[in-house]
Amino acid sequence: MDQLIIDGGRPLRGSVRMSGSKNAALPILIATLLTDEPCTVDNVPVLLRDLRTTFRLLESLGKSVEISGSQVRVTAHGSLKTQAPYEIVKQMRASVLAAGPLLARFGLVRVPIPGGCAIGLRPIDIHLKGFAALGAREIADSGDIILSAPRLRAGRVRFKFPSVGATEHLMMAAAAVPGATVIENAAREPEIEDLAVFLGRLGAKVRGAGTARIEVRGERTLHGAVHAVIPDRIETGTFMLAAAAATGRLTLLGAEPRHLKAVTAKMRAAGAKIDESAGSMTVSMSGRPRPVAIATAPHPGFPTDLQAPWLAWMCRASGRSRVTETVFENRFLHAAELRRMGAHIAVTGSEALVSGIERLSGAPIMASDIRAGAALLVAGLAAGGRTTISRVYHIDRGYERVEVKLRGAGARIRRVKA
Ligand code: UD1
Repeated sequence: MDQLIIDGGRPLRGSVRMSGSKNAALPILIATLLTDEPCTVDNVPVLLRDLRTTFRLLESLGKSVEISGSQVRVTAHGSLKTQAPYEIVKQMRASVLAAGPLLARFGLVRVPIPGGCAIGLRPIDIHLKGFAALGAREIADSGDIILSAPRLRAGRVRFKFPSVGATEHLMMAAAAVPGATVIENAAREPEIEDLAVFLGRLGAKVRGAGTARIEVRGERTLHGAVHAVIPDRIETGTFMLAAAAATGRLTLLGAEPRHLKAVTAKMRAAGAKIDESAGSMTVSMSGRPRPVAIATAPHPGFPTDLQAPWLAWMCRASGRSRVTETVFENRFLHAAELRRMGAHIAVTGSEALVSGIERLSGAPIMASDIRAGAALLVAGLAAGGRTTISRVYHIDRGYERVEVKLRGAGARIRRVKA
């Protein structure tokens, strides 16, 4: 198993190119199940493990997937299957999104119910309530869920919480259902807007994506499309925080400043200088940050996926700060690893209180999920001495060639086989 070895304390400099968004690419690729015509999706972070899993999912359901650089072409290859294998769903929860398009097209689908994961229980009750509102019946059978509806009908759905996955799932299904489906209290993340653009290209009419009320007017038959995925705002935010923590001046090429407003505002409050232009962002920082409190929230709030790297930065703030996690139940697993590097963090329920110290010190530490892994990277780059991160496969789920990109920015980081 791979490890990342970082000799920290070196400022980051120069520029790094950001990849396409993992969380936008996943639903968009799964939405190709809505059509039998070929689809071409560009700017896909094809090296990520979750993308590999998505390709295997599509192939297991009967699609052909061809990859050329960061372009992915998905074509039909006989008729589609309506049963997703457990072996794939257990590796990636987002696989469950295949249920909606298949249910809408074929009236019946069987998918394994995804289990919990390190950061929380992550049920799919909001998705299922949505399908029930469109007329689907559900039966649980040996760990699977069977959804049936000879014909889904357009309807009105109001979510109890703006779940990203449930919003995407319902939008995809509704795209293949004639009539107007309305989703209220919908998630407003940029990835939802990107999916809406893609569904529009397939032939559905989507209005209101990016607001809390989305209307989808579907078509029974959708056609092929060509689309380029938006830049990865979470990768960008992670590199912004890495540059701030390690200090220096780093330009992120291919970044979209509009998607990172909450993060930029908080980083500026903590003392980072951030210059924005069309398609790039530059972060400059010297010394320790001021302590600034954050609370995660659905978009446009501070993204939960950047809570862990933010916490890593605050470990060296010039005072005490508070981090509140409101989206997931158990998302402070990185705190224990950061303590091994000398951080002072007290976690109580959904809150972490950080008392900043002058400098973290390198240590052997372990990633527990994608974003906790990102926090350890940020901490390792800022720390004095050597940090060895194990369970790097978690980081590889969300960051393409992370050590190559960071080396390009002047970091001393290498990957070794342990
Ligand atoms: C997506 C992102 C993930 C991000 C999260 C929140 C992808 C592939 N993943 O995950 O990186 O951290 O949004 O921004 O895009 N919930 C329920 N019932 C449901 C669905 C969700 O209770 O049916 C709860 C979850 O347990 C969690 C919260 O709602 O506590 C947020 O989940 P959701 O917005 O659905 O996140 P995902 O789509 O799983």
